[in-house]
Amino acid sequence: MQKAVKLGLGVALATVFATAAFAQVKPDTAIQYRQGIFKAQLWNVLPMAAMVQGKAPYDQAAFLLRAQRLDQLSKMAWDGFGPGTNAGAPTKARPEVWSNGAGFKQAADAFQAETPKLVAAAQTGNMDQIKSAFGAVTKSCDNCHDNFRSK
Ligand code: HEC
Repeated sequence: MQKAVKLGLGVALATVFATAAFAQVKPDTAIQYRQGIFKAQLWNVLPMAAMVQGKAPYDQAAFLLRAQRLDQLSKMAWDGFGPGTNAGAPTKARPEVWSNGAGFKQAADAFQAETPKLVAAAQTGNMDQIKSAFGAVTKSCDNCHDNFRSK
């Protein structure tokens, strides 16, 4: 009986938190969240870029770890772009993110389609495959930035 009561409270609290996270999130919290995810993306892209460019020795395990992290991160920034989060903290997101939501989603989908290919290439350890997959990933970053992020 007591166990059932505790469980019920846990579920109720989980519901409160889930609702709060989506309904009452402040624009500055969302903006900082998405910027944090993008910073983490860059954090993982830079060492991969150094290895691809031969500026750092290639380390298969380290590269794969970065690629896997980027693949996870590629799914995460988008819920930080909810309605009303175009202002409220310094942001470089252009109004087109909201006025052309379909185009923004397309750019996000294109990016997310490339990161699993980078993971697959990283698993082979073949630098030609890695270079080509890494190039496709960074191109998808740039494509979105060109249209949806101000300089
Ligand atoms: C679908 C669109 C899209 C894709 C894909 C995308 N970005 Fe961005 N990125 C944005 C937008 C929009 C902002 C501006 C966010 C803001 O300021 O609110 C941004 C901001 C950033 C920032 C600045 C964060 C800060 O505030 O300091 C970095 C760094 C960044 N992106 C890196 C990347 C990297 C690396 C990739 C690819 C691996 C990538 N982004 C892919 C849209 C995208």
